[in-house]
Amino acid sequence: MGPAQETRAPEVTLDEIVALCKRRGFIFPSSEIYGGIGSTYDYGHYGVLLRNNVKGEWWRAIIGERDDIVALDSAILQHPRVWEASGHLEGFTDPLVDCRTCGLRFRADNLEDAQCGRKPSMHPGEFKECDLTDAREFNLMFETHVGPVKDTASTAYLRPETAQGIFINFKNVLQFARKRPPFGIAQIGKSFRNEITTGNFIFRTREFEQMEMEYFVPPAEAPKWHSYWMDERMRWYTDLGIRDDNLKLRPHGADELSHYSSATSDVEYLFPMGWLELEGIANRGDFDLTQHAKFSGEKLEYFDPEQSEAYVPHVIEPAAGVDRAMLAFMVDAYDTEEVEGRKRTLLRLHPRLAPVKAAVLPLVSKEGMPERAREIYQEVRARVPAEYDEGGSIGKRYRRQDEIGTPWGITVDGRTMEDGTVTLRDRDTLEQERVPAEELGDRLAAKLAEPWRSPKLG
Ligand code: GAP
Repeated sequence: MGPAQETRAPEVTLDEIVALCKRRGFIFPSSEIYGGIGSTYDYGHYGVLLRNNVKGEWWRAIIGERDDIVALDSAILQHPRVWEASGHLEGFTDPLVDCRTCGLRFRADNLEDAQCGRKPSMHPGEFKECDLTDAREFNLMFETHVGPVKDTASTAYLRPETAQGIFINFKNVLQFARKRPPFGIAQIGKSFRNEITTGNFIFRTREFEQMEMEYFVPPAEAPKWHSYWMDERMRWYTDLGIRDDNLKLRPHGADELSHYSSATSDVEYLFPMGWLELEGIANRGDFDLTQHAKFSGEKLEYFDPEQSEAYVPHVIEPAAGVDRAMLAFMVDAYDTEEVEGRKRTLLRLHPRLAPVKAAVLPLVSKEGMPERAREIYQEVRARVPAEYDEGGSIGKRYRRQDEIGTPWGITVDGRTMEDGTVTLRDRDTLEQERVPAEELGDRLAAKLAEPWRSPKLG
């Protein structure tokens, strides 16, 4: 699907996000010293912390704040029959065409977004030398071999979604979790797809991380729970600071629905490239449990003791991407402003998402300030994730913290040495107040627990 038309000019370009990620060590192109490997990225220190916070907030909403969902961490390598049952072996394909002239391969349904290998100003097929083959279906699963012998019997696949690991554990979980529908099983983990059209930084890559939850419900209740999870998932993004205007739910048309789905809506975000999918929320019906029961011979049902009957629960699935969510949070938070004649770039991230919550900075590297600042840092970091920084001018250190989205800066100065107070600087308002150093832990922990809305909303 191409980006929908959007007349608003983006507040930030993807190039600006890429540059900030590189400059501040969030994300690097993978294998860079060998020239890179297409659309694969490595996450540096702040990238790891931000990603972990995105995942942490998902776990908080899905497990921490409710009692009806349990966690799972299933293997990436699964029995190949899983992918037969799920339909991926047969149907998880993209139609591709090859160009016999330039040797490049393109998605047949996306030629208008691709560039001709010989004449990049034209689309494949438009240049007189183009010689395209007929479209052929290409499976997106990465194949590998289990064990020392490379034959068809040893073929296995890197999972293209985490969801199937949940369905094949339905019986295990039902036995141990003491749950009855409606209940959910949630997992976060890596998935792999040999995508043909990658690009747009971490938006679409071949290796990515998913946050998926399968919610098992009595069949008659499926539409109600589908609508419930659409609301819940939209709220998750807005509670974490994404502005309403940049988020929408888009129901799939009948021609877009996956083979397993009777209804799906995408949560879309207004990326710099246009409106694109952040998360899909599908009503999968009984497709998966029925298929796995058929292929494995196991009964995958719930026995309802009140009705004295067994039934196959229907499944509502909110399926999100960690990397896409992280990109959306960064895009929504990116801001620049002029302060005293200088441009300031900052990430106005929700404090709970910010990689570092507080930076402790001695004003100068003398007069006992670094030593006192280190003591304060040890106290603060026991309460909230913090960083100590004494290198360079104070202005430069604040610019660095602004760019990584640190919501609070603590400066230890001459007055600290006299009366024990520090300045507490707010990333968004730039207001500074004097606070007794021993109150910092409580103050910051309380601030972190407060509801938050994007300061961009005014
Ligand atoms: N189990 C259903 C499922 O996997 P999906 O819409 O194919 O549904 C769910 O994927 C989410 O995973 C997407 O909304 C997106 O956020 C993320 N995702 C899928 N493919 C991706 C890719 N190639 N790169 C990054 N994220 C991806």
